[in-house]
Amino acid sequence: MRQRGGCRIKRGLAAVARRDLGQSCPEHHCPVRMIAHKLTLHFGFSYDNCRAGGWHKSGSSKVPRAMIISAAIAKGGTGKSTLLRALASVALKRGYAVTLIDGDVRQNMSRWAQMLKEAGNRPETLQLVSATTPREILEAAELHNGDRSVVLIDTEGTTNDNLMAGLFASDIVVVPIFFALDDVTAAIQITDHYIPLAVETRGRPLPAVFVLTKQTIIDAKARALSELRAIIQANGTPIADHALHNRVAYRDLQSGQTLYSPDQPDAKAIAESEGVFDDVLKTFTEAMRQAA
Ligand SMILES: Nc1ncnc2c1ncn2[C@@H]1O[C@H](COP(=O)(O)OP(=O)(O)OP(=O)(O)O)[C@@H](O)[C@H]1O
Ligand SMILES: [Mg+2]
Repeated sequence: MRQRGGCRIKRGLAAVARRDLGQSCPEHHCPVRMIAHKLTLHFGFSYDNCRAGGWHKSGSSKVPRAMIISAAIAKGGTGKSTLLRALASVALKRGYAVTLIDGDVRQNMSRWAQMLKEAGNRPETLQLVSATTPREILEAAELHNGDRSVVLIDTEGTTNDNLMAGLFASDIVVVPIFFALDDVTAAIQITDHYIPLAVETRGRPLPAVFVLTKQTIIDAKARALSELRAIIQANGTPIADHALHNRVAYRDLQSGQTLYSPDQPDAKAIAESEGVFDDVLKTFTEAMRQAA
């Protein structure tokens, strides 16, 4: 029975892919390809003027001196903005200059930055750029991609030009997944269709990592979720070793907090967020090593 269920899910995923990309796309007839095509021709962006920050040697191991991370999944409410707030908290704590590019028309990140400021919790090394067009996203990513910087691009939970621009500009994509069929479907749309398109368009690899979010004990144990887990595992995209569990501390970020600013910070939320940051760094480093 379970196997048949798994097949149903796979058939559903394949149907979504066909709908999004068309059976055959010799030219740029489907919407997604047209967006990618526009980025290179219409906006004039290419690998040369929008590329990774590079590397420097730190002790004996190579660490990235700059990293552009976008959070992407074409579904609302999976935890993109929360994941980026957690990663921003960790990056700031570790001394990176952090730029948040708010590519979501609802401007959730801009509101967060404003609330941090009003609460006296906004570090000087945190910049916020509101970017509501593909050109603004691409230009902001290029401009702020400096030494020892982390640029975080928040995208809307849908597929649009801004999502493609975020992918195009990034060094790595974090895909937050909440354990549910719709979320897994949306995550696989990103890794199997949108990311390959961004790679094809810009001509350099774009690693991605799944990050499980809002995890509960039920998610870890429920048998019904094992098919979804198997599909995620079979996707080929690495899954971060650490996950963001369902915690009040993450909800409280919305009230003008970083992970470290409350009087009594949540040590578990900090530990798992630092773990996810390290997992993202590791995936990025490994991908760069393989590409070299
Ligand atoms: N790990 C978590 N623990 C508890 N609550 C969480 C967690 N992650 C996200 N949330 C909550 O879930 C809701 C949706 O999260 P968030 O806004 O980050 O999602 P999103 O993917 O950015 O949504 P949208 O597509 O609408 O921008 C928020 O209320 C947030 O506080
Ligand atoms: Mg959001």
